[in-house]
Amino acid sequence: MNRVLKVASHRPFVSLLQTRMVSSLLISNPKYAFLKELGLQEENAGVFNGEWKASGAVVDSVSPATNEVIARVKTGTVEDYESAIQAARAGYEQWSDMTAPHRGEIVRQIGDKLRSQLQNLGKLVSLEMGKINPEGVGEVQEYVDICDYAVGLSRMFSGKVIPSERAGHVLLEQWNPLGVVGVISAFNFPCAVYGWNNALALVTGNSLVWKPAPSTPLTAIAITKLIEEVLQENKLPGGICSLVTGEADVGQALTKDPRVNLVSFTGSTEVGRIVGQQVQGRFGKILLELGGNNALLVNDDADLDMVVPATVFAAVGTAGQRCTSTRRLIVHEKVHDQVVERMKKAYAQLEARIGDPLDSNTLIGPLHNQQAVLKYKATVAEAIVQGGKVECGGQVLERSGNFVLPTIVSGLKHDAEVVHRETFAPILYVIKMKDLDEGIKINNEVKQGLSSSLFTQNISNIFKWMGPKGSDCGIVNVNIPTSGAEIGGAFGGEKETGGGRESGSDAWKQYCRRSTCTINYSKDLPLAQGIKFE
Ligand SMILES: *[C@@H]1O[C@H](CO)[C@@H](O)[C@H](O)[C@H]1NC(C)=O
Ligand SMILES: *[C@@H]1O[C@H](CO)[C@@H](O)[C@H](O)[C@H]1NC(C)=O
Repeated sequence: MNRVLKVASHRPFVSLLQTRMVSSLLISNPKYAFLKELGLQEENAGVFNGEWKASGAVVDSVSPATNEVIARVKTGTVEDYESAIQAARAGYEQWSDMTAPHRGEIVRQIGDKLRSQLQNLGKLVSLEMGKINPEGVGEVQEYVDICDYAVGLSRMFSGKVIPSERAGHVLLEQWNPLGVVGVISAFNFPCAVYGWNNALALVTGNSLVWKPAPSTPLTAIAITKLIEEVLQENKLPGGICSLVTGEADVGQALTKDPRVNLVSFTGSTEVGRIVGQQVQGRFGKILLELGGNNALLVNDDADLDMVVPATVFAAVGTAGQRCTSTRRLIVHEKVHDQVVERMKKAYAQLEARIGDPLDSNTLIGPLHNQQAVLKYKATVAEAIVQGGKVECGGQVLERSGNFVLPTIVSGLKHDAEVVHRETFAPILYVIKMKDLDEGIKINNEVKQGLSSSLFTQNISNIFKWMGPKGSDCGIVNVNIPTSGAEIGGAFGGEKETGGGRESGSDAWKQYCRRSTCTINYSKDLPLAQGIKFE
């Protein structure tokens, strides 16, 4: 977590102390020169409303790998938020007047700017969030991809022309922007999730206010600086993409503000439930991406050579901190023991690959903070109490940073309390199923409904799994793991996952209001349904 730094007084010994602290920031270390190439400094203003100016507390952004301070951020207050929303509203006036293909051209330039900093930004994501570098770069690549997608979309998000029942009339739909889109994003995808929202909201004609996770402000600042360059080069107001870092009070101000037409929230179900109700209470629009409790089903006819690497990737990737991480491995009883043995073998090789996320040998980085480590420990202990057997892992590593061993727990009942809870850590529960029907029931019995996958070779099973009696999740995979979505499809889930969809398919519609337009080009006044009104 961020530690709030006391503002220094003017006593001489304090400035001495400060000098020492400044020199120990990672940003001063030549090894991390990419931070300065991204325009970051030792202390960064965490608010952008066309200008960089912040008046809140100064916080440390900390590397989860060592708990050293990367750099500092002066965060935003509720007053700073006010300046940002005003800038976003003013920016909207100009932005929404531009044609959609012209807006697409600006988004194309944003994509190019991100491409030029792909590696640097990817490193920053790894350093600040803790995910391994290929995943950090992958996140930036996702933002680039959605920019490309949005550029095409800017010439394609057409409405329908519908046959009118009235002579001399035409009935059509036009998709108009909502106004301001507020994005509250989570620590685990500090770049891609904003990217999905940013690119689609922009081409459809909206401006944005972004409130990133309190623990990943540097990534948000670096991204916003790149967007700022593009807006400046095109003589557009920076407020179109406003940023306010800060704590829950800023998030609250945004959630309650009727000037924010859509709140796109990624985070826990617990907080999302409150955000959803507050936004609904003022009849704003919501897009919720909340918790998941994703299962991977292994039927007796599955290709186990595929199952093992797929499960390892999905269970330990991002150290189990993806919304789509596999948390439950539901295995047919005929192959259960064999799968557990093979998984244990694969996990045994992982220990040597835990480490610095920026090291190319590393497969598993740290958990994001110490709280997550405590949750991991507590959850493993509870799993044992509830009848689980730790097949491997279960330990916190004795070294600096927030490192834990990836863990497999077997023997728990499918409805054990701990199994039904989402823990953001690399803990995998292996559960037996008698047959696919029982597996589907277990898949669907949790409150969350984000991602799911089935490994089978049987075409009947595949279609059952996809259909109305199959998985009730938003993401229903076959023979690929639960994580690793691509941007072309709509991303999101049902039930306590919140129902939102982001990224591809027709997710763009959530950033629009639909205008149903009936136009009379005749000389008569026929009313619909043949009503006479004389
Ligand atoms: C596929 O599964 C169905 C039932 O789930 C079963 O009836 C059928 O025999 C299976 N087909 C093959 C080729 O194994
Ligand atoms: C359609 O337009 C004509 C010509 O302006 C007008 O006479 C007629 O009343 C209009 N019909 C409706 C439904 O407004």
